[in-house]
Amino acid sequence: MTKDKILIIGASGQIGTELVIKLRSMYGNINVIASDVKNASDEVMKSGPYEVLDVMNESRLHEVVKRHGITQIYLLAALLSATAEKNMELGWALNMRSLSHVLDQARFGNVKKVYWPSSIAVFGSTTPQINTSQHTIMEPNTVYGITKQAGERWCEYYHQKFNIDVRSLRYPGLISWKTHPGGGTTDYAVQIFHQALKDGEYESFLTEDTTLPMMYMPDAVRATIELMEAPSENLKIRSSYNVAGISFNPKEISEAIKAYIPKFKITYNTDERQAIANTWPKSIDDSEAQKDWGWKHHFDLDALTKDMLLNLKNKYN
Ligand code: SER
Repeated sequence: MTKDKILIIGASGQIGTELVIKLRSMYGNINVIASDVKNASDEVMKSGPYEVLDVMNESRLHEVVKRHGITQIYLLAALLSATAEKNMELGWALNMRSLSHVLDQARFGNVKKVYWPSSIAVFGSTTPQINTSQHTIMEPNTVYGITKQAGERWCEYYHQKFNIDVRSLRYPGLISWKTHPGGGTTDYAVQIFHQALKDGEYESFLTEDTTLPMMYMPDAVRATIELMEAPSENLKIRSSYNVAGISFNPKEISEAIKAYIPKFKITYNTDERQAIANTWPKSIDDSEAQKDWGWKHHFDLDALTKDMLLNLKNKYN
Protein backbone atom coordinates (compact mmCIF):
# COMPACT_ATOMS: atom_id res chain seq x y z
CA MET A 1 0.00 0.00 0.00
CA THR A 2 1.10 3.51 -0.71
CA LYS A 3 0.01 6.92 0.42
CA ASP A 4 0.95 8.46 -2.90
CA LYS A 5 -1.75 10.00 -5.07
CA ILE A 6 -0.67 10.60 -8.62
CA LEU A 7 -2.08 13.05 -11.16
CA ILE A 8 -1.31 12.48 -14.85
CA ILE A 9 -1.86 15.57 -16.98
CA GLY A 10 -2.18 14.66 -20.66
CA ALA A 11 -3.62 11.19 -20.05
CA SER A 12 -5.10 10.86 -23.53
CA GLY A 13 -1.77 11.39 -25.29
CA GLN A 14 0.77 8.92 -26.62
CA ILE A 15 2.69 8.55 -23.35
CA GLY A 16 -0.18 9.20 -20.93
CA THR A 17 -2.32 6.39 -22.36
CA GLU A 18 0.28 3.81 -21.37
CA LEU A 19 1.78 5.44 -18.28
CA VAL A 20 -1.60 5.70 -16.52
CA ILE A 21 -2.24 1.97 -16.92
CA LYS A 22 1.24 1.03 -15.71
CA LEU A 23 1.08 3.36 -12.69
CA ARG A 24 -2.41 2.10 -11.79
CA SER A 25 -1.06 -1.46 -11.74
CA MET A 26 1.66 -0.33 -9.34
CA TYR A 27 -0.09 2.18 -7.08
CA GLY A 28 -3.71 0.96 -7.26
CA ASN A 29 -6.35 2.22 -9.70
CA ILE A 30 -7.93 4.73 -7.34
CA ASN A 31 -4.58 6.36 -6.54
CA VAL A 32 -3.81 7.39 -10.13
CA ILE A 33 -5.99 10.22 -11.43
CA ALA A 34 -5.97 10.62 -15.20
CA SER A 35 -6.67 14.09 -16.62
CA ASP A 36 -6.79 15.79 -19.99
CA VAL A 37 -8.81 18.32 -21.96
CA LYS A 38 -10.36 15.44 -23.89
CA ASN A 39 -11.42 11.92 -23.00
CA ALA A 40 -8.68 9.31 -22.80
CA SER A 41 -8.78 5.72 -24.13
CA ASP A 42 -11.52 3.36 -22.89
CA GLU A 43 -8.88 1.47 -20.94
CA VAL A 44 -7.89 4.66 -19.08
CA MET A 45 -11.46 5.98 -18.64
CA LYS A 46 -12.78 2.67 -17.27
CA SER A 47 -9.93 1.65 -14.99
CA GLY A 48 -9.86 4.58 -12.55
CA PRO A 49 -10.59 8.24 -11.75
CA TYR A 50 -10.59 10.84 -14.52
CA GLU A 51 -10.79 14.67 -14.39
CA VAL A 52 -11.35 17.08 -17.26
CA LEU A 53 -8.43 19.45 -16.68
CA ASP A 54 -6.93 22.25 -18.75
CA VAL A 55 -3.52 22.77 -17.14
CA MET A 56 -3.54 26.40 -18.31
CA ASN A 57 -6.28 26.97 -15.74
CA GLU A 58 -4.18 27.24 -12.58
CA SER A 59 -7.04 27.52 -10.10
CA ARG A 60 -8.70 24.43 -11.54
CA LEU A 61 -5.36 22.56 -11.30
CA HIS A 62 -5.06 23.64 -7.68
CA GLU A 63 -8.60 22.53 -6.96
CA VAL A 64 -8.00 19.05 -8.46
CA VAL A 65 -4.70 18.70 -6.56
CA LYS A 66 -6.33 19.65 -3.25
CA ARG A 67 -9.49 17.58 -3.66
CA HIS A 68 -7.57 14.38 -4.46
CA GLY A 69 -4.67 15.05 -2.08
CA ILE A 70 -2.21 14.73 -4.98
CA THR A 71 1.43 14.04 -3.99
CA GLN A 72 2.97 13.46 -7.45
CA ILE A 73 2.28 15.04 -10.84
CA TYR A 74 3.32 13.76 -14.26
CA LEU A 75 2.93 16.64 -16.71
CA LEU A 76 2.65 15.20 -20.22
CA ALA A 77 0.54 17.86 -21.96
CA ALA A 78 2.52 19.70 -24.67
CA LEU A 79 2.56 20.83 -28.27
CA LEU A 80 5.15 18.74 -30.16
CA SER A 81 7.75 19.97 -32.65
CA ALA A 82 5.83 20.12 -35.94
CA THR A 83 2.61 21.44 -34.37
CA ALA A 84 4.40 24.11 -32.34
CA GLU A 85 6.07 25.44 -35.52
CA LYS A 86 2.58 26.02 -36.93
CA ASN A 87 1.31 27.74 -33.79
CA MET A 88 4.26 29.29 -32.01
CA GLU A 89 2.26 31.38 -29.52
CA LEU A 90 0.28 28.39 -28.29
CA GLY A 91 3.43 26.23 -28.31
CA TRP A 92 5.26 28.66 -26.06
CA ALA A 93 2.26 29.37 -23.82
CA LEU A 94 1.17 25.77 -23.28
CA ASN A 95 4.63 24.26 -22.92
CA MET A 96 5.95 26.92 -20.54
CA ARG A 97 2.93 27.92 -18.49
CA SER A 98 1.86 24.34 -17.81
CA LEU A 99 5.28 23.66 -16.31
CA SER A 100 5.18 26.79 -14.14
CA HIS A 101 1.72 25.90 -12.88
CA VAL A 102 2.78 22.39 -11.95
CA LEU A 103 6.10 23.39 -10.37
CA ASP A 104 4.25 25.99 -8.30
CA GLN A 105 1.96 23.28 -6.93
CA ALA A 106 5.18 21.78 -5.54
CA ARG A 107 6.63 25.15 -4.46
CA PHE A 108 3.53 25.94 -2.41
CA GLY A 109 3.76 22.58 -0.70
CA ASN A 110 0.86 20.74 -2.29
CA VAL A 111 2.88 18.19 -4.24
CA LYS A 112 6.10 16.30 -3.36
CA LYS A 113 7.37 15.07 -6.71
CA VAL A 114 7.06 16.23 -10.31
CA TYR A 115 7.82 14.51 -13.62
CA TRP A 116 8.20 16.57 -16.79
CA PRO A 117 9.49 15.29 -20.15
CA SER A 118 12.16 17.05 -22.15
CA SER A 119 13.28 15.90 -25.59
CA ILE A 120 16.13 15.44 -28.04
CA ALA A 121 14.72 18.69 -29.49
CA VAL A 122 16.68 20.64 -26.84
CA PHE A 123 19.69 20.12 -29.09
CA GLY A 124 20.19 22.10 -32.28
CA SER A 125 22.22 22.42 -35.44
CA THR A 126 25.43 23.38 -33.56
CA THR A 127 25.28 20.29 -31.30
CA PRO A 128 27.62 17.37 -32.14
CA GLN A 129 25.18 14.82 -33.62
CA ILE A 130 26.84 11.50 -32.87
CA ASN A 131 26.67 10.15 -29.33
CA THR A 132 25.44 13.54 -28.16
CA SER A 133 26.52 13.95 -24.56
CA GLN A 134 24.56 15.14 -21.55
CA HIS A 135 26.39 18.45 -21.33
CA THR A 136 27.02 19.91 -24.77
CA ILE A 137 26.15 22.86 -27.00
CA MET A 138 22.40 23.43 -26.88
CA GLU A 139 21.06 25.98 -29.34
CA PRO A 140 17.63 24.59 -30.33
CA ASN A 141 16.18 25.83 -33.62
CA THR A 142 12.48 25.09 -33.03
CA VAL A 143 9.76 26.59 -30.83
CA TYR A 144 9.33 23.17 -29.22
CA GLY A 145 13.07 22.80 -28.59
CA ILE A 146 13.29 26.29 -27.12
CA THR A 147 10.44 25.52 -24.69
CA LYS A 148 12.11 22.26 -23.71
CA GLN A 149 15.42 23.96 -23.08
CA ALA A 150 13.81 26.78 -21.07
CA GLY A 151 11.79 24.15 -19.21
CA GLU A 152 14.95 22.24 -18.28
CA ARG A 153 16.48 25.42 -16.86
CA TRP A 154 13.25 26.10 -15.00
CA CYS A 155 13.25 22.59 -13.47
CA GLU A 156 16.84 22.89 -12.31
CA TYR A 157 16.16 26.37 -10.93
CA TYR A 158 13.17 25.15 -8.89
CA HIS A 159 15.25 22.27 -7.60
CA GLN A 160 18.14 24.50 -6.50
CA LYS A 161 16.09 27.41 -5.18
CA PHE A 162 13.11 25.66 -3.64
CA ASN A 163 14.39 22.10 -3.22
CA ILE A 164 11.61 20.77 -5.49
CA ASP A 165 11.98 17.09 -6.34
CA VAL A 166 11.52 17.43 -10.10
CA ARG A 167 12.73 14.73 -12.48
CA SER A 168 12.98 14.67 -16.25
CA LEU A 169 14.08 12.66 -19.30
CA ARG A 170 15.07 13.85 -22.76
CA TYR A 171 12.91 11.39 -24.69
CA PRO A 172 13.97 10.34 -28.17
CA GLY A 173 11.23 9.70 -30.76
CA LEU A 174 8.70 7.37 -29.13
CA ILE A 175 7.17 4.44 -30.98
CA SER A 176 3.93 2.89 -29.78
CA TRP A 177 0.83 1.13 -31.06
CA LYS A 178 -1.88 2.11 -28.54
CA THR A 179 -2.10 5.84 -29.34
CA HIS A 180 -0.76 7.96 -32.18
CA PRO A 181 1.83 10.63 -31.42
CA GLY A 182 0.45 14.13 -31.77
CA GLY A 183 2.33 16.20 -34.32
CA GLY A 184 6.03 15.43 -33.94
CA THR A 185 8.92 15.03 -36.36
CA THR A 186 9.54 11.42 -35.36
CA ASP A 187 5.90 10.42 -36.06
CA TYR A 188 6.92 8.72 -39.31
CA ALA A 189 8.29 5.80 -37.31
CA VAL A 190 4.78 5.09 -36.01
CA GLN A 191 2.82 5.89 -39.20
CA ILE A 192 5.02 3.52 -41.19
CA PHE A 193 3.71 0.50 -39.25
CA HIS A 194 0.05 1.47 -39.71
CA GLN A 195 0.58 2.02 -43.45
CA ALA A 196 2.57 -1.20 -43.84
CA LEU A 197 -0.39 -3.17 -42.50
CA LYS A 198 -3.14 -1.16 -44.20
CA ASP A 199 -1.68 -0.39 -47.65
CA GLY A 200 1.64 -2.23 -47.85
CA GLU A 201 3.38 1.07 -48.63
CA TYR A 202 4.44 4.30 -46.98
CA GLU A 203 5.54 7.72 -48.19
CA SER A 204 8.16 9.02 -45.76
CA PHE A 205 8.40 12.75 -45.04
CA LEU A 206 12.07 12.30 -44.06
CA THR A 207 14.86 11.17 -46.41
CA GLU A 208 16.02 7.56 -46.31
CA ASP A 209 19.23 8.44 -44.43
CA THR A 210 17.74 10.68 -41.72
CA THR A 211 18.95 8.86 -38.64
CA LEU A 212 17.27 9.83 -35.35
CA PRO A 213 17.31 8.46 -31.80
CA MET A 214 14.17 6.43 -31.05
CA MET A 215 12.70 4.32 -28.25
CA TYR A 216 9.90 1.76 -27.95
CA MET A 217 7.15 2.81 -25.53
CA PRO A 218 7.61 -0.06 -23.03
CA ASP A 219 11.20 1.14 -22.59
CA ALA A 220 10.07 4.77 -22.29
CA VAL A 221 7.46 3.93 -19.64
CA ARG A 222 10.00 1.85 -17.73
CA ALA A 223 12.62 4.62 -17.93
CA THR A 224 10.10 7.14 -16.60
CA ILE A 225 9.08 4.98 -13.66
CA GLU A 226 12.64 3.89 -12.84
CA LEU A 227 13.68 7.55 -12.72
CA MET A 228 10.71 8.46 -10.53
CA GLU A 229 11.39 5.56 -8.15
CA ALA A 230 15.15 6.24 -7.85
CA PRO A 231 16.38 7.61 -4.50
CA SER A 232 16.49 11.40 -4.75
CA GLU A 233 20.10 11.62 -3.56
CA ASN A 234 21.28 9.49 -6.53
CA LEU A 235 19.95 11.97 -9.06
CA LYS A 236 22.70 14.39 -9.98
CA ILE A 237 20.89 15.94 -12.94
CA ARG A 238 17.79 18.04 -12.32
CA SER A 239 17.54 19.61 -15.76
CA SER A 240 16.85 16.42 -17.75
CA TYR A 241 18.64 13.11 -18.36
CA ASN A 242 19.75 11.91 -21.79
CA VAL A 243 18.23 8.47 -22.42
CA ALA A 244 19.01 6.32 -25.43
CA GLY A 245 17.18 3.45 -27.05
CA ILE A 246 18.06 2.75 -30.68
CA SER A 247 18.96 4.88 -33.67
CA PHE A 248 17.73 4.19 -37.19
CA ASN A 249 16.64 5.92 -40.39
CA PRO A 250 13.57 5.41 -42.63
CA LYS A 251 15.48 3.01 -44.89
CA GLU A 252 16.58 0.83 -41.99
CA ILE A 253 13.12 0.62 -40.43
CA SER A 254 11.61 -0.18 -43.83
CA GLU A 255 14.10 -3.07 -44.16
CA ALA A 256 13.11 -4.30 -40.70
CA ILE A 257 9.43 -4.24 -41.73
CA LYS A 258 10.22 -6.05 -44.99
CA ALA A 259 11.55 -8.97 -42.99
CA TYR A 260 7.91 -9.55 -41.90
CA ILE A 261 6.04 -8.00 -44.87
CA PRO A 262 8.26 -8.74 -47.90
CA LYS A 263 6.07 -6.72 -50.31
CA PHE A 264 6.29 -3.54 -48.24
CA LYS A 265 7.37 -0.48 -50.24
CA ILE A 266 8.70 2.86 -49.04
CA THR A 267 8.90 6.08 -51.06
CA TYR A 268 10.23 9.49 -50.02
CA ASN A 269 8.71 12.95 -50.26
CA THR A 270 10.10 15.35 -47.67
CA ASP A 271 8.25 18.24 -46.07
CA GLU A 272 9.03 20.94 -43.49
CA ARG A 273 9.76 18.30 -40.84
CA GLN A 274 13.01 17.41 -42.64
CA ALA A 275 14.53 20.75 -41.61
CA ILE A 276 13.66 20.02 -37.97
CA ALA A 277 15.10 16.50 -38.09
CA ASN A 278 18.32 17.84 -39.63
CA THR A 279 19.04 19.81 -36.44
CA TRP A 280 18.59 16.87 -34.05
CA PRO A 281 21.17 14.31 -32.87
CA LYS A 282 21.59 10.96 -34.58
CA SER A 283 22.51 9.10 -31.42
CA ILE A 284 22.57 9.83 -27.70
CA ASP A 285 25.11 9.16 -24.96
CA ASP A 286 23.12 8.20 -21.86
CA SER A 287 26.01 7.22 -19.58
CA GLU A 288 24.84 9.62 -16.83
CA ALA A 289 21.45 7.87 -16.68
CA GLN A 290 23.20 4.49 -16.60
CA LYS A 291 25.45 5.62 -13.78
CA ASP A 292 22.90 7.46 -11.60
CA TRP A 293 19.84 5.21 -11.80
CA GLY A 294 20.89 2.13 -13.79
CA TRP A 295 19.16 2.87 -17.11
CA LYS A 296 19.38 0.32 -19.92
CA HIS A 297 17.05 -0.05 -22.92
CA HIS A 298 15.71 -3.50 -23.86
CA PHE A 299 14.13 -3.22 -27.33
CA ASP A 300 16.27 -3.19 -30.47
CA LEU A 301 14.91 -2.47 -33.95
CA ASP A 302 13.91 -6.04 -34.75
CA ALA A 303 12.20 -6.66 -31.39
CA LEU A 304 10.30 -3.38 -31.69
CA THR A 305 9.24 -4.10 -35.28
CA LYS A 306 7.98 -7.56 -34.41
CA ASP A 307 6.02 -6.33 -31.39
CA MET A 308 4.51 -3.34 -33.22
CA LEU A 309 3.31 -5.47 -36.14
CA LEU A 310 1.87 -8.12 -33.83
CA ASN A 311 -0.09 -5.64 -31.70
CA LEU A 312 -1.30 -3.52 -34.61
CA LYS A 313 -2.41 -6.60 -36.52
CA ASN A 314 -4.55 -7.61 -33.51
CA LYS A 315 -5.90 -4.09 -33.26
CA TYR A 316 -6.90 -3.92 -36.93
CA ASN A 317 -8.55 -7.34 -36.78
N1 SER B 1 8.95 13.11 -30.77
C1 SER B 1 9.06 14.53 -30.56
C2 SER B 1 8.80 15.28 -31.80
O1 SER B 1 9.06 14.75 -32.85
C3 SER B 1 10.44 14.87 -30.08
O2 SER B 1 10.43 15.01 -28.72
O3 SER B 1 8.39 16.40 -31.74
